[in-house]
Amino acid sequence: MAIVETCSASAPAKVIITGEHWVVHGSAALAAAVGLRSRVKCMEARGPGITIKSLRLGSFTFTLGQDSCRGPHCGFYYAASRIVEVCGEAKPATCIVDSDIPIGAGLGSSASVAVSFSAAYLALCRGGKDLSLSDVSNAASGFEKFVHGNPSGIDTAVVLHGGFIVYRRGEGIIMRINESLADTDAVVLIVDTGIARSTKEAVAAFTQNLSRLGSFSKILVNLAEQITWEVVGSLKARDTKRLGSLLYLSHGLLSALGVSHEKLEEIVQAARAEGALGAKLTGAGMGGTALVLAAREHSHRLEKIYESKGFKVYKATLGVPGLQINCDVSGRAAMVEGT
Ligand code: MEV
Repeated sequence: MAIVETCSASAPAKVIITGEHWVVHGSAALAAAVGLRSRVKCMEARGPGITIKSLRLGSFTFTLGQDSCRGPHCGFYYAASRIVEVCGEAKPATCIVDSDIPIGAGLGSSASVAVSFSAAYLALCRGGKDLSLSDVSNAASGFEKFVHGNPSGIDTAVVLHGGFIVYRRGEGIIMRINESLADTDAVVLIVDTGIARSTKEAVAAFTQNLSRLGSFSKILVNLAEQITWEVVGSLKARDTKRLGSLLYLSHGLLSALGVSHEKLEEIVQAARAEGALGAKLTGAGMGGTALVLAAREHSHRLEKIYESKGFKVYKATLGVPGLQINCDVSGRAAMVEGT
């Protein structure tokens, strides 16, 4: 039998184009994978337990089978526990985690690491064979539940599968979209406020503000659903003016439900003042990042304006491939892609 020594996996970041927060309450949302990535490399180890080495979280070793888990490593603990249920043994391993994705910025940093780690450790346990994306997804959901409490699952779905997806809680991916903005007159800038925030707290605040509206909240969830389908239609038709107007509308609703931040408002206001096609917060909000849709010819000027205000700007490609796994099986590489 082939001896697997190492398995590596990488997964992208994500942006939610429309429908964040509403997706927790049943609306469809549109998300895209973004070309910043996390990478995890798992190697078989001699000692007991699983060691995680991360530049951001430090180094820690845990053994599975405890009643509960406490500490920053627990996302890894819960993901590994689910993997052991499907592969039958807790293989000792050392896993090295590395990521380009800013933390707490709404770009799916934890979902990306959850998927990369789950895939690399599952592949190691399985000897690089019979890898099921639904096992990766299930393990990554265990990780995300620990980090976010009550995630809709959209973040793990988009980083796992890549591209552009329409997602509904409980149903999963309900549509994949092949059109992108690459051959239009518009580009997307991802503008980072630099303010890290907790998705758990933002979801709780939005939910509380929505619940204050009583039965009227259903009308708003339906409106968010309609905005998602209008955005999908505009993307397919490559109608960037209409798409931009819908992004401003989507931002206005999120702001009214209390998940904006003065820095996000500054970004959206500057987009309007400079004639950008559209802008909105993306992800959980309350800090983090905003998307700005700009005419290609104006994008450089806008980028400079945001940088002069102290924001970091990413010009990342949208719709990139999802999970990629590579195992070194007795010196031969076995490659599996999520898309
Ligand atoms: C976070 O990226 C997206 C939210 O809608 C939370 C979720 O869907 O789990 C705010």
